[in-house]
Amino acid sequence: MRVVMIGAGYVGLVSGACFAEFGHTVTCIDKDEGKIARLHQGVMPIYEPGLEAIVERNVAEGRLFFATDPAASVAAADAVFIAVGTPTRRGNGHADLTYVYAAAEEVAALMTGFTVLVTKSTVPIGAGDEIEALVRRVRPDGDVSVVSNPEFLREGSAIEDFKHPDRVVVGVSDERARSVMEDLYRPLNLNETRIMFTDRRSSELIKYAANAFLALKITYINEMADLCEKVGADVQHVAMGIGLDHRIGGKFLHAGPGYGGSCFPKDTLALTHTAADAGAPLRLVETTIAVNDARKKAMAGRIAAAMGGDVAGKTIGILGLTFKPNTDDMRDSPSLDIVPALIARGARVQAYDPEGHEARALLRDVDFRDGPYEVMDGADALVILTEWDQFRALDLDRVKGLLNAPLVVDLRNVYNPDHMRLKGFTYASIGRM
Ligand code: UDX
Ligand code: UDX
Repeated sequence: MRVVMIGAGYVGLVSGACFAEFGHTVTCIDKDEGKIARLHQGVMPIYEPGLEAIVERNVAEGRLFFATDPAASVAAADAVFIAVGTPTRRGNGHADLTYVYAAAEEVAALMTGFTVLVTKSTVPIGAGDEIEALVRRVRPDGDVSVVSNPEFLREGSAIEDFKHPDRVVVGVSDERARSVMEDLYRPLNLNETRIMFTDRRSSELIKYAANAFLALKITYINEMADLCEKVGADVQHVAMGIGLDHRIGGKFLHAGPGYGGSCFPKDTLALTHTAADAGAPLRLVETTIAVNDARKKAMAGRIAAAMGGDVAGKTIGILGLTFKPNTDDMRDSPSLDIVPALIARGARVQAYDPEGHEARALLRDVDFRDGPYEVMDGADALVILTEWDQFRALDLDRVKGLLNAPLVVDLRNVYNPDHMRLKGFTYASIGRM
């Protein structure tokens, strides 16, 4: 099949490359000329494990193409996916659909023959109807079906998630479009992936409902962690103890500094606005957002408390700045709250992240270092903010030798408290004694 992906970002590029890997002919379109030029040179615009190899292979085998101009590929396409960003609209929390509508309009003008127009970007409920009306206005003669196919890719394991999804959700009412979507995802039949067909609005809501539920689950265990600290329980045991119940499940019960990233913060916010407008407010989700925001803001105080209450004039070494490991993505990362708050309290911050290069533009007055041990050198405390693998097996004797004081604040519960104490560290973590 001939596929076009409009938007070659985290979602579009991974999806496009994986569809090519399935055997389809894919063109990824992006208006960012620099990004397309880099892709033509084989340089990945994002850090995503495994992506470069798939792109390289499929380009070499003539199935994957990149362009800034969609004209030729859209005219020949069976399916055109819209995967441009849907940021939070300034001022009111709703999703900004400007880019999505612009892309739909452009595609409408260019398509020939029957074309399935698929929204992969996360769009509010009913956006598919708007897109359909817009396309019909631009091309009253056009033969098009607008379909919703949300993504559930986690950055850092997006390729694996695309190739082995728990499910694929497709919101479609038209039989011809359904058959195109079946053909597109047919390679997943081999591992018996459930492809769930539903109506478009339900599909749009499934994406938001899934993200909100996961955000709520994380927030639940985060509050439980705070309770554990007060009553002398261990949140990791509590998480395991409840997660072994299949009705609950053990995933997304890892307590930490609060969730961040390109999806949970923006999607929960957009969902609560949609729900309030519809007259069915989602108070659990509203509370989740408030609790998570407060948590990210409270983390600097927690670090200060571990350092005796006052960080003025002290040096803090920070490991990890991205919102999670295995990505270069800084969007809504807890570090963007925590680091400036520490600096505002008068601390000096020296930090390292393996891929979070954008942090240099986002965080002021930070002394960026080139490796984990460089961060500790002369620091009064070491803080683990993101659980990159390379921070999981630090040479603890070396850490102790480099730090001014053997104090480690581990906001991701990477280390074992008993072992750390045995090694002579003062060790603070989340929800554990
Ligand atoms: C995606 C989805 O689109 C978003 O709805 C979902 O909630 C999260 O994932 P993501 O891939 O992470 O967004 O965004 P980004 O990496 O910013 O990629 C968007 C790409 O679209 C960028 O490369 C941008 O240059 C491109 N773009 C944007 C266009 O090509 N045309 C536009 O009009 C706007
Ligand atoms: C998420 C969804 O998982 C994915 O399905 C959706 O399509 C896009 O949004 P992503 O944002 O890439 O993916 O990462 P995810 O692994 O979900 O982590 C999100 C945030 O939650 C991170 O800040 C992470 O550190 C945090 N988190 C996650 C926890 O604090 N505890 C957990 O147990 C899991």
